[in-house]
This record gives sequence, structure tokens and C-alpha cells, in this order.
Amino acid sequence: MLQTFNEKNRHLKVYIKDRLYSREAAKVSVFDSVVQGGDAVWEGLRVYPEGIVCLDAHLTRLQESAKTLAFVDIPSKAVIKEAIKKTLDANDMTTDTHIRLTLTRGEKITSGMDPRLNQSGSCLIVLAEWKPLVYDNDSGIKVISTSQRRNAPQFLDSKIHHNNLLNNILAKIQANVAGKDAGLMLDEHGFVAELNGSNLFLVKEGKVFTPHAHACLPGITRKTVIEMCEVMKIPLIEKNLSLSDFINAEGVFATGTMGELTPVVEIDGRSIPKEDAVMKSVLNHFSEAIRSYCEPLTST
Ligand SMILES: Cc1ncc(COP(=O)(O)O)c(C=O)c1O
Repeated sequence: MLQTFNEKNRHLKVYIKDRLYSREAAKVSVFDSVVQGGDAVWEGLRVYPEGIVCLDAHLTRLQESAKTLAFVDIPSKAVIKEAIKKTLDANDMTTDTHIRLTLTRGEKITSGMDPRLNQSGSCLIVLAEWKPLVYDNDSGIKVISTSQRRNAPQFLDSKIHHNNLLNNILAKIQANVAGKDAGLMLDEHGFVAELNGSNLFLVKEGKVFTPHAHACLPGITRKTVIEMCEVMKIPLIEKNLSLSDFINAEGVFATGTMGELTPVVEIDGRSIPKEDAVMKSVLNHFSEAIRSYCEPLTST
């Protein structure tokens, strides 16, 4: 599904480094690390009137990704929360909002890969947009398996939520060429890793399965679903799963902050049912419970 321009986003205020800018003026330098090497980390956040879904877990992942990449001045959670609050307040946003939170390694003194050239501190960007869920979670999505393998730890650890997204973008291009909604990526052994921008689950004989998180982003929505299955006493198994397991499942769904829980109704031209009772109970429980995962922003 192709997102479209939302007129409500024409006059956004965007937070960069230490202040708010209008949409037109919101720019980073050509010397910024994100321009030079995709050298940045990011999180997608969803805003409800009750607060931001799993905010603390997202901020932990942002900080841990930055630490793995040896950023030297990682902002505290309090500083990041203050920047998010200022941005949401300036845009009068309390719901239907998605935030793209980015931390770049900052500006370099001259072009080059070496992080020692970064001498003016990291750069925090809070881009909040009016954005409903990106998929139609009633009709579901169609996906195609791609030839682009998902990065595993021996190449570039998928646990780092970095801005070097070309691995996933190449898979998305293959899905676009095939006229499908998302690209399904395998790991280096041929097991299913995830979609190009969300995690995958399948349901079979009353049990829920998901791939190990060695070659996918360990999604926060994924973790929430795993916890919910425990609460609902639905067996949840993490294991290596092949395309055949997914194609012959009784239900398949994708998880992510952008789309929440989305049935996958077709893989490589084979249709997947979306009426499975266990899958429906997980999807319904998620919709009912998600607001209890929201954390309000308070001024520090
Ligand atoms: C590649 C990839 N997989 C999965 C996800 C879903 O993660 P989360 O549930 O934390 O939003 C994302 C979200 O950014 C992603 O980029």
C-alpha cells in the first residue's frame, strides 16, 4: 500500500538537535553522518491519547543501537522525552500520530567515514506526522519472497536499528515490481526472517510460531504479541520456519508500530486464510489492549 501526502502535515514543526523548525526549514547538513553513510539509529513511535506505545522499550533500543555503533554522546531518556513532548505540543498532536525518532552521529568536519571526524555531537530529530496505521488490517496484505537475504549478525547485526536500510529497501523494490505490499526476506540459511519492515508470525493447530530474532529486527510489537500469547495461554514457539511453513499456515500476520497487527493473505501467489479463530483472538486482544501499553509524556 502506497502512503499518500496528508494535507494536515503541510505545516509541521520538526525538532532538530535543540530546537523546532518549520517543515520547510527542517534540514540537516550535507556533512551529517546520516547523509554521508546512513550512520544513524531510529525508532518509529505511535501516539494515542493515553501516551506513546512502549515508549521506554523504544528509547532503550535507540540507546542500545547507538551504543553498539559507538556513539559518544547518547542523550538520556529524559532529554529525548522532552524533545518529543515539545514536538507533539507544537503540532497539537495527541493521537493518530506516528513519530520518526532519529539520532544521527552528527556533523563531520569534512567528508569521510571515520567517526573521529564527528566533533559537534549527535543530532536528535523528532519528526511527528499525522499518520493512521499504514495497512488496511481488515483486508490484509499480499507479500512476495525476495532474493534479497536479511542481514544476519556476521554481516550487519539486525538488532541494531540503524538507518542503513538498503538491505530492506532492495526487498521492498522487488515487492513493488511484483505489485505486492511487502517483500518477505529469508535469512542466510533460507529460513524466513521477516518482511522488509515488519515481523512475521504464523498460526497452526492452535499454536503461534515466529522466527528466531537472529536475522530480523527484534520488534517491540513482536515482543508485545509474545507476551500477550503468554497471558492468553496460547502456545508461542520461536523456531526456524521455512516458506513452506508460512504458505501452509492456518493464519499469518505481520507486526510493527507502523501497521500494528496485519493479516498476510497471500504469499508468492498462494492464498492464506485470515479467519483462524486463534489468530483472530490475538488480533482482537491486541486492538483492545494496546492502549494499556501507552506511556504518558510528562515534563521533566
Ligand atoms: C525491518 C523491521 N522489522 C520490524 C519492525 C517492527 O518493529 P517494531 O515492532 O519495534 O515497530 C521494523 C520497524 O521499524 C523494521 O524496520
